[in-house]
Amino acid sequence: MKDLTVTIRRFEPGRDRAPYFRTYTVKVNEGARVLHVLHAIHDTLDPTLSYRYSCASGQCGSCAVRMNGEPVLACMEEAKDNSTIEPLNLPVKKDLVTDLVPKLSQIASFCTKKEIVLPKKADIDAIKPLRDCIECLCCVSACPAVDVTNFIGPTGMRQEMRLVLDPRDGGHRVSDAVRDGLFTCTSCQACWKVCPKEIEIPGKAIEKLRARANRLGFTLPRHLEVAALVKETGRSIARTSESFLEQVPDVIEPDGPMKATVGFFVGCMYNLRQQQSALDAMEVLKRNGIRVIVPKDQVCCSSPLIRTGQLDYVDELKKKNIEVFRSRGIDTVLTMCAGCGTTLKNDYPADKPFRVIDINELLVQLGIEPPAKLGVKATYHDPCHLLRGQGVRDQPRELARQVVDLVEMPPVCCGSGGGVRSGIPEEAAALGKRRGEEIRKTGATLVITSCPFCEFHIAGHTDKPVKHIASVLLEGYREKDRAGPAKQPAKARKPAAEKKAGMKKAPVKEPKAAKAPKAPKKKATGKKS
Ligand code: FES
Repeated sequence: MKDLTVTIRRFEPGRDRAPYFRTYTVKVNEGARVLHVLHAIHDTLDPTLSYRYSCASGQCGSCAVRMNGEPVLACMEEAKDNSTIEPLNLPVKKDLVTDLVPKLSQIASFCTKKEIVLPKKADIDAIKPLRDCIECLCCVSACPAVDVTNFIGPTGMRQEMRLVLDPRDGGHRVSDAVRDGLFTCTSCQACWKVCPKEIEIPGKAIEKLRARANRLGFTLPRHLEVAALVKETGRSIARTSESFLEQVPDVIEPDGPMKATVGFFVGCMYNLRQQQSALDAMEVLKRNGIRVIVPKDQVCCSSPLIRTGQLDYVDELKKKNIEVFRSRGIDTVLTMCAGCGTTLKNDYPADKPFRVIDINELLVQLGIEPPAKLGVKATYHDPCHLLRGQGVRDQPRELARQVVDLVEMPPVCCGSGGGVRSGIPEEAAALGKRRGEEIRKTGATLVITSCPFCEFHIAGHTDKPVKHIASVLLEGYREKDRAGPAKQPAKARKPAAEKKAGMKKAPVKEPKAAKAPKAPKKKATGKKS
């Protein structure tokens, strides 16, 4: 037995004027679940504590609560000392008991066709990944869109898609889904990550429904414009100034000994709207002994089309990008855009001829020259497509701590993804405003992130500067150069580090048909800002 302390949010509407927190210490067995802790509090300290459970084995979904902000099943989640237990983000009936009925009653039910049609095995297999829901509403509690729109929530979309796939159902599922908020989903993936049954709602339901909506003519006008631009230019952003690709040479050689060679996938935002962040990243890579090949014929990764269900042109873009890197013999493709990174890693074929790595992963794996500390208090915004899409959480923090004093804020979507910023700007603005408020609460004077969409969107909702981690590292290097007697060369390549990162030092092959590389433009790699 051990002592375990938890703080619980208490509230009885009609009796309490406002929610309050109470801390309890109880004796529980090693490995106790949250539910065991609640039982112990109820049985030994406070019989007035209300919570709900039934099966106590992860099957009924009735015990869902939030632990340290994250929705969990109390009966399955191991209790953590000094954690905070709160009700789901739903109307509270008492303490940890929430009112599930309003949301559950919105979930579509079967509408049987007059004629008898039996599902085939293929139908059943297709439905399988969507039918395990236990209606705990963890996904609804975690969904940012639910908070600021009338979206019925992720499990409502899951059910619409489940019924679409069932030949016995005769409802108008796609138009119902559009009516119920299909396009409000920001693709943040929070629903999938908290689902106790691991139902991949964004990819298996929402994007599939959006693709069907596209075929039925429901795609939002602004999304159609983006798709037309991609078809016309190969890019999802209109050109307004010199692109990143026009500013850099085909190959950026490192300072000092070479640790690794990568191919760089820039993405539309860093190519055409926030070029400086990408230019800063090249400086950081150069300084840390990383040789960068920059194929100029790369195109949009296709993320804006996949997320909005416009799939006609997606295979062509994928094929083009794969060939661009394959033909140069590049075995490691580097991304610094969270959206491009998750698309290349998760939506491109598993047998593509290269691995994809995010810049935070690469720099931590290879190790960086220590920058100077800037003496700045900063907070880090987790891009959804980096945190949940690629599982990259610790690396940007590890890098940021070398330059700034880092303060945390909850990892919540800023509202810029899933086509929401372009398609439903008022929703994006509402979520951005919330993000701005969280930033203000931290007291930070700088916001660090690792995604151009977050960078651009959050900048509109805070008075603090918002920068990519690479730009902040570069500032640390410049400060070091200003303060120190001389610039420190990158450390000699460590064979162990190279092996760990799976990099090859072998020279990169150029494609047979490729033009001779242009002479490097000094501006690109020696840029000062
Ligand atoms: Fe049934 Fe937890 S009590 S899922």
